[in-house]
Amino acid sequence: MIQEWLMNLLPEQASSMAWAVDGLMLLLVATAAFFTALIFTLVVVFTVRYRRNHATEQPVQIHGHLGLEIFWSAVPTVIVLIFFGLGAWVYIIQNTAPTGGFEVSVVGKQWMWKFQHPDGKREINELHVPLGQKVHLLMTSEDVIHSFFVPAFRIKNDVIPGRYTQLWFEATKVGAYHLFCAEYCGTQHSGMIGKIVVMEPAEYQRWLGSEIAASGGVKTPQEEGRLLAEKNACLTCHATGRAPAFPGIYGSTVQFENGIQAVVDDAYIRESILDPTARLVAGYQPLMPTYTGQLSEEEIMRIISYIKSLKNVPDAANAPVAGGAR
Ligand code: CUA
Repeated sequence: MIQEWLMNLLPEQASSMAWAVDGLMLLLVATAAFFTALIFTLVVVFTVRYRRNHATEQPVQIHGHLGLEIFWSAVPTVIVLIFFGLGAWVYIIQNTAPTGGFEVSVVGKQWMWKFQHPDGKREINELHVPLGQKVHLLMTSEDVIHSFFVPAFRIKNDVIPGRYTQLWFEATKVGAYHLFCAEYCGTQHSGMIGKIVVMEPAEYQRWLGSEIAASGGVKTPQEEGRLLAEKNACLTCHATGRAPAFPGIYGSTVQFENGIQAVVDDAYIRESILDPTARLVAGYQPLMPTYTGQLSEEEIMRIISYIKSLKNVPDAANAPVAGGAR
C-alpha cells in the first residue's frame, strides 16, 4: 500500500538501475524525515519538561559530557558513511560503461537529438532499443551544453561541446519513455525532447530490418568512418609511416616528445583531428593540418568508430572493417 503510493510519486521504473537510485533517494528522505521528527519532538518535550517553574529558579550548570560527545559524533559519522558507500556504489555502476555492447552515438544540437545505431541506422529525437540489452551512449554536442535525461531510466548526463561523455542503461520494460534536454540551451530548449522506444529484441530486429530496407541500406559507422578517412586523405600519411598507423592504435599507449604518455581514446583522437600538434606522438613531424570546420562532430565520431574497429588487427593496414558491433 505505502510502497504503491510512494512509487506513484516517482516516474515509472524502466531500467535495471532505477530501483537502486530510487532506493537510495527514499532512504535519504526517510532518514531526514526521522531526524526531523525526532528533533521537533524533543524540542517540544524539553520545552515542557525543563521549563522554568518560578522566577528565582536557577538551572543546573553542566560542563561537558564525554560519553555524549562521542555518541553524537559517532552516530552521524556512521550514518553519512553508509550514505557515502551506497552513493559511491550507485555512482560507480552508473559510470562504468559496458564495453563492446550496443553502442549508440548521440549528438546534441540546438534543438534536437541525433542518434546513430551500431548498424548505421540514424534517428532524430527518437531512439529505438532492444529490451534487456545494455545500451551505451557516447555523446557530444555540436554547439552548446545540453543534458540527456531519461527519467524512467534514472539517467542524466551533460552533453558538452568539445568533449565526449557517456551513459548506459538496460531497459527492463517495453514502452516509450520521455527524453528531455535538462540544461537550458536557448529559446527552443523546452522543445528539445524526444522518446526512447524499448522493443522486444525480435521486434527490434524486424523494425531495424524494415527501416534499413526502406532507406535502401545503410552503412555502419565504421564503414562511414573509413570512407571519410579515404575522402580526407588520412591514409596518405597514416598508412605510409609518416604518421602513426591506425590498426591497433586505439587503446594503446603513445609517448610525446616531452616524455609524457597517454592512452589513445576517443578524446585523444578527436583532439588530434582538430588540433594535431597539441599532443604529437614522439618521432613524427607536425605535418597534419587541422580539420576544424571541415568535419562535423558526427563525422569525427564515425572516424573514431573506424579506428576503434581496427583495434584488434595490429598487422593489417587498411584491413576490412568489421561489420559493426552486432
Ligand atoms: Cu538542449 Cu536544452
